[in-house]
Amino acid sequence: MGAKQKRSNGKTLLVEDGLFFNEGIEAAATLLKAGKVVVFPTETVYGMGGNIHSATAISSIFRIKGRPSDNPLIVHIFSKDQLTGLVEFTPDAALPLMNHFWPGPLTLVMNKRSSVSDMVTAGLQTVSVRMPSNSIALRLLRSAGVPVAAPSANLSGRPSITTFEEARLELEGKVDAIIDGGKTLFGVESTVLDVSRDPPLLLRPGAVTVEELRKYVRNLQVHPAAHGYASAESVVPSPGMRYRHYAPVNARVILFEGEGAIEALSSAAELCRRKGVSCASVVTSEADLAGTDVFISGSAERPETIARELFLLLRKLDRAGYEYILIEGIREEGMGLAVMNRIRRAATAVNPDVRSLLNHKNNRKLPP
Ligand code: TXA
Ligand code: MG
Repeated sequence: MGAKQKRSNGKTLLVEDGLFFNEGIEAAATLLKAGKVVVFPTETVYGMGGNIHSATAISSIFRIKGRPSDNPLIVHIFSKDQLTGLVEFTPDAALPLMNHFWPGPLTLVMNKRSSVSDMVTAGLQTVSVRMPSNSIALRLLRSAGVPVAAPSANLSGRPSITTFEEARLELEGKVDAIIDGGKTLFGVESTVLDVSRDPPLLLRPGAVTVEELRKYVRNLQVHPAAHGYASAESVVPSPGMRYRHYAPVNARVILFEGEGAIEALSSAAELCRRKGVSCASVVTSEADLAGTDVFISGSAERPETIARELFLLLRKLDRAGYEYILIEGIREEGMGLAVMNRIRRAATAVNPDVRSLLNHKNNRKLPP
């Protein structure tokens, strides 16, 4: 093992960029094969990976994340050859999608083989599979040689992790290895598309946009919950849609969207100042606001810029101790749909009457 690699808290192998990076990835792959838990970068967000053939690895993932056991995991592969071990057959609709989007941020839900563990699929008859395009992820998967189940690396309910630093802050001492891949390319998770049914159904909007998908799936359906408004009561086809998600630990996220959003957000920020409540304003560059406690999420014209910063901003502002994060919504075009899905699900209120919101001392956050 390379001299540059270190173990912290007697447990976590940190694989950092440098002379011994390749050896580090090999060491992480060996850990994976042995049923250990490895956090690794993908082009979307960091994942918390485990060998799908190891019951210990899969149960460790659920335990470390605090993930409800009825929320299935995505299986990551490096080669289409691995599919035959996972699915009964490849639906016709999947072929052009795999050809065009793999490797890349598209997850396909297909009928599983009976050999795929119920722990991975949370008892469902389907399994979701994706082939990431991140080169470190691909090297790790190839070297491990086994399919790797990997949810987003964040603790359950929290914003996803998009940098090595955030992964260390949240998971050092809890997992067996963390691989440094810098900042992830897209910043939001993969698009989840159910091709086990016809017409195919979009379950989670993500880094592959609906507009792109429609070029390859003419009869694409988009589940209403893709907009992020699903409630705990509603019947949803993807268990992950049911849970509160992406929320900071302490700060409450308040979404301002639609006509007059900037004006409402600005007056909320003004009220915060008057009342001495610490509020961060997160706005697009087009909103043309500036000042302390104002943070730019990206450009409304290029939602992919916002996707890349969103989770990191939520995490940093939460750590900075803000009580409220007032955030401007964007149009649901391109990656804007994925961005709004994440913001709505992180938010405790949308377009609220701000005066009553700040007055309300018992305005406690919902449990994740
Ligand atoms: O970009 C990504 O997809 C990241 C990286 C690490 O690959 N992974 C990720 O995993 O976001 P996770 O566990 O945070 O989200 C997986 C989503 C959940 O909403 C889950 O319910 C859904 O996919 N899912 C998994 N298997 C499914 C299945 N068989 N049927 C329906 N939904 C499924
Ligand atoms: Mg997740």
